[in-house]
Amino acid sequence: MLRKLFIGAIALLSFTTATADEGMWLPSLIKERIKEMRKQGFKLKADDIYSDSKASLKDAVVQFGGGCTGEFVSPEGLLLTNHHCGYSSIQKLSSVEHDYLTDGFWAMSREEELPVPGLKVSLLVKMEDVTGRLAAGESRDDIIGKEIKGKGYRASIESMYYGNQYYLFVYCTFRDVRLVGAPPSSIGKFGGDTDNWIWPRHTGDFSVFRVYADANNEPADYSKENVPYRPKRYFKISTKGVNEGDFTMIYGFPGNTQEYITSKAVDYIEKVSNPMKIALRTIRLDIIREAQAKSVATRIAYAAKHAGIANSWKKWEGESLGLKNLNTAEKKTEYEKEFAEWAAGKPEYARLLDSINASYERVIPGYFMRELFNESIAGIELFSFASQLYNKALSQSKLPADEQAGIRKRYLKDYNREIDHAIARHMIREFVERMPKENIPQQLTAAIEKHGGAEALADELFAKTQLIDKYPLTKEEIYADPFVQFASWFAPCMIQNQKYAYRNLSNVPEVEKWYKAYMQALREWDKERAFYPDANFTLRVAYGAVTGYENADGEYHTHLTTLDGVLAKDNPEIYDYNIPQELRDIYDRKDYGRWAIEKNDGKSVPVCFLASNHTSGGNSGSPVINSKGELVGINFDRTWRSTMSDIEFDPAICRNISVDIRFVLFVMDRLGGAGYLLEEMGIK
Ligand code: ARG
Ligand code: GLU
Repeated sequence: MLRKLFIGAIALLSFTTATADEGMWLPSLIKERIKEMRKQGFKLKADDIYSDSKASLKDAVVQFGGGCTGEFVSPEGLLLTNHHCGYSSIQKLSSVEHDYLTDGFWAMSREEELPVPGLKVSLLVKMEDVTGRLAAGESRDDIIGKEIKGKGYRASIESMYYGNQYYLFVYCTFRDVRLVGAPPSSIGKFGGDTDNWIWPRHTGDFSVFRVYADANNEPADYSKENVPYRPKRYFKISTKGVNEGDFTMIYGFPGNTQEYITSKAVDYIEKVSNPMKIALRTIRLDIIREAQAKSVATRIAYAAKHAGIANSWKKWEGESLGLKNLNTAEKKTEYEKEFAEWAAGKPEYARLLDSINASYERVIPGYFMRELFNESIAGIELFSFASQLYNKALSQSKLPADEQAGIRKRYLKDYNREIDHAIARHMIREFVERMPKENIPQQLTAAIEKHGGAEALADELFAKTQLIDKYPLTKEEIYADPFVQFASWFAPCMIQNQKYAYRNLSNVPEVEKWYKAYMQALREWDKERAFYPDANFTLRVAYGAVTGYENADGEYHTHLTTLDGVLAKDNPEIYDYNIPQELRDIYDRKDYGRWAIEKNDGKSVPVCFLASNHTSGGNSGSPVINSKGELVGINFDRTWRSTMSDIEFDPAICRNISVDIRFVLFVMDRLGGAGYLLEEMGIK
């Protein structure tokens, strides 16, 4: 009753009411949602999405690399994902003579496809609720052991709802994966970090791979004898396009959400953690950008680093702003009050919130220290290099030159001493200013005093270190190096940080143990709420519709962008907006052939579209599926104002961004000259 009043007072956006579009559902339980999905236009059945016994759409979806999603689009193992998911593979295969990042790459035959060492793709074989088996005394190892039945199999047991349920996931991992094609970065990364998280968007963020298997269609190391993998299921592509209101479903591997955390945790993220991380990254990004503006070589060397630092930086800014605008912490406080009233009469739940809050009090200082350390000291590249060398030297009697060479290559290949030095001057100072005194290593305090400031200490370290210029180094030289000394002062700090090395603040065991009961209680109490487990890089289904949104008062953002917008942003002077000349020529001739759509009495080509699916990091590369189960796009981003959806989803503005499959095909066909791939995908 009270709650009803509260919902009225807080208006329409209360997170207590589940909306149709919120949620990341476990595929094996999708039968519980299928009625709702069909009401919204979906035509297939639950076991078309997921089945243990017959081929289903889940057999066409893969975990791509360590943090993305991909999908099969042909009977011969052809795979689509994002350009930013394939980026490091494309970079690895590139050289000065063959710069596939800049120029793009298209294999004109199977022989020309390029094996990517180390790249792996995993298919979900099955998933199963094993809560009962674990409770009955079966061990994790026993359960997993029984499931490793095939070549390339691996299994893991993942906790859902903070340990209330456990699911077994069995995967089959393929390790011969080859690059088939990628557009030039001027298309695949069009707009760069400026357009990242932004709508209107015009990025052709896709790349194409192929999975290879042995003669039995099973995983194998790379071999010339391997043949294209024949998936049980692949996506049929629809070239009919999307319209506002069309049903869409996303099938992929979202990495991390925290929808059930209490107000205290929201406060920590919004007001403590994000602002600290944003401030420190702003400093690093400013330094890198300034150096990049002065030199083309530096721009290239620091492109991937810049993208990585900037991506989360921008996300956190959007997230904190979103939480503030939604009043998430205040709403949660109200929600908790009502919960406490209900729980007061129930001995097993009555003190739960007190326990959660008390555990946050104890854990937050240590958790913050770890975050601060990671963003400051660990943000100095030479710190990581020195730590690696030091650990290696400690752990073995000799440190052979080739091993040093390996570490050097990893850390110093694209290294710029001036950038790192400038960053170190700031990061050491930020660390000591933001860290409680008692947690600052004594040697550091002493060294800062001795040299007359954090900046002077950084100058001294960079002036005296031999790590960058001398190779190979003896063990004695490594131990005596001032930067290695500096790194060693933080060893106790790093050991302490291990205690807090969990996915999120609320997953630190001392906190998480209370969440188990809290989740149970919430599910008993809040009967109207549709509960789904937080994302944890396991396979999920999200559904919604193609739709624009009101970005600001009187400013509606429509659902589709076109080639006209690409050309409007095109600027040969600006690296991130300098499109290939070929694309300009095609545009001038309006020579779009079959890819043309009607637009304002003229013609254009669709590029990206918006939808209301609940997605997160890890959903990059996910198939966007229409009501008939056909592929209409590849997911690659959210809008900036959506980014708080990892904590509170707002159906009014949360939108995911996908590249329209018609743009993917247009680029393959007209710029890549890879028409044979279209044939392979069944596009006539
Ligand atoms: N924001 C997207 C994601 O979170 C895309 C990131 C890659 N693109 C970029 N310009 N940095 O991963
Ligand atoms: N670009 C993100 C990824 O790589 C997806 C965007 C998001 O966070 O929703 O997973």
